[in-house]
Amino acid sequence: MLPMKLLKKLLKWSKITIISLLLVLAIAYLVIYNLSQQRIQKTYSYTDAAISIPSDSLSIAKGEHLYKIRSCQDCHGEKGEGSLFMDDKMLIQLTAPNLTKGNGEIAAFKTTDWLRVLRHGVDKNGRSLFMMPSHEINTLTNEDLANLIAYCKQLAPVANLQEKLHSIGPIGRLLMVINQVTVLPAEKIDHRAIHTEKLKEKTGVAYGQYLSSGCQGCHRPDMKGGGPLAPGFPPVPNITGDGNVGNWNEQSFIATIRNGKTPEGKELNNNYMPWKSIGHFTDEELKSIFMYLQQIREKH
Ligand code: HEC
Ligand code: HEC
Repeated sequence: MLPMKLLKKLLKWSKITIISLLLVLAIAYLVIYNLSQQRIQKTYSYTDAAISIPSDSLSIAKGEHLYKIRSCQDCHGEKGEGSLFMDDKMLIQLTAPNLTKGNGEIAAFKTTDWLRVLRHGVDKNGRSLFMMPSHEINTLTNEDLANLIAYCKQLAPVANLQEKLHSIGPIGRLLMVINQVTVLPAEKIDHRAIHTEKLKEKTGVAYGQYLSSGCQGCHRPDMKGGGPLAPGFPPVPNITGDGNVGNWNEQSFIATIRNGKTPEGKELNNNYMPWKSIGHFTDEELKSIFMYLQQIREKH
C-alpha cells in the first residue's frame, strides 16, 4: 500500500493534470470555433452580367442532362425533391434543399438567386453555403448554366423537406480549419471571373477539361489523385496518362464508367467513386474527358 501522504499527492496531481487538460481542450476549441466562425461569417460581393433563361423544350432537355452529369441528383434527388445531407451534431446537420416550387424559397427564386447560388455559392446575406459544390459548377458557360436553371425552374413541385438543417458541429469546424474538407464553396470561387458565353467546340481536350470539373473535388485539380477523402475511404487514384488509366483505351475507359468495373477487373464502389452518376455522360463526352486525361503526362 502507498503511504497516505504519497496517495494524497498523487490524487492532487491527477486533479491538476485533468483540469489543465480540460483547460487546454477548451482553449483549443475556442480557437477552432473563432477561426471557423470568421470564415463562416465572411460575406462576398460580386456583380454579374444578366443572363436570360430559355423555356423551350430543347434547352430544358439539355438542362436535364446537365443536372445528371453534374450529379445534382446525388444530393437534391432525382426529382429535385431534396434530401437529408447529414444529421450529425459533431460533424454537420444539413439538408440539401428541395429545388422544386414545393419549397417556398425556391418558388420565389429569381434568376439572380440561381446565379448567386450556382455561380457564387452564397446565401441571401452573401455568406458561403455549406457543402454545396458551387465551386465546381461555377465554371459552366452562360449557355449551359441558363439551360440548367431552365430545367430546375420547371421541376414539378414536390412537398418535401420544409424544415431546413444548416449547422456545423465541433468536428466539422476542426475539419474546416485544417482544410481537410471543402465546407465553404465561396472560398474557392473567383467571384470576379468573366464567364464564357458558350463553347465553340463540343469535343476535344478543352471540352474534356471543361466537363471534368466535377472530378476535381476527389481526383484533385491536377487529376493526379491523392489520399483518402475521409477515414475509411480508399485513396483516390491518379487518372492522368501517367496513372493506371494511361494504359487504357477509349473503349475501356467508357466501359469502366458505364459498368463500374476497370479493365483490370476491379469493381468500383459507387459510394466512393460515383460511377452511376458519371455514367450519364454521353459516349462523345466521355471520349473528350478521356482525351483530356490522357494528354496529361509528365513521364515519357
Ligand atoms: C454534394 C451535394 C450537393 C450537390 C452535388 C449539389 N448540391 Fe445544391 N446544395 C447542397 C446543400 C447541402 C445545399 C444547402 C447549403 C446550405 O444550407 O448552406 C445546397 C443548396 C442548393 C441551392 C440553394 C437552395 C436554397 O433553398 O437556398 C440550390 C439552388 C442548389 N443547391 C442547386 C444545385 C444544383 C442545380 C446542383 C447540380 C448542378 C447541385 N445543387 C448540386 C448540396 C449539393
Ligand atoms: C466522390 C469522389 C469522386 C468523384 C467525384 C470522381 N471520382 Fe473517380 N474515383 C474515386 C475513388 C475514391 C476511386 C477509387 C475507387 C476504389 O479504389 O475503389 C476512383 C476511381 C476512378 C477510376 C478508376 C481508376 C483506376 O486506376 O482504377 C476512374 C477511371 C475514375 N475514377 C474516373 C473519374 C472521372 C472521369 C470522374 C469525373 C467525371 C471521377 N472519377 C469523379 C473518387 C471519385
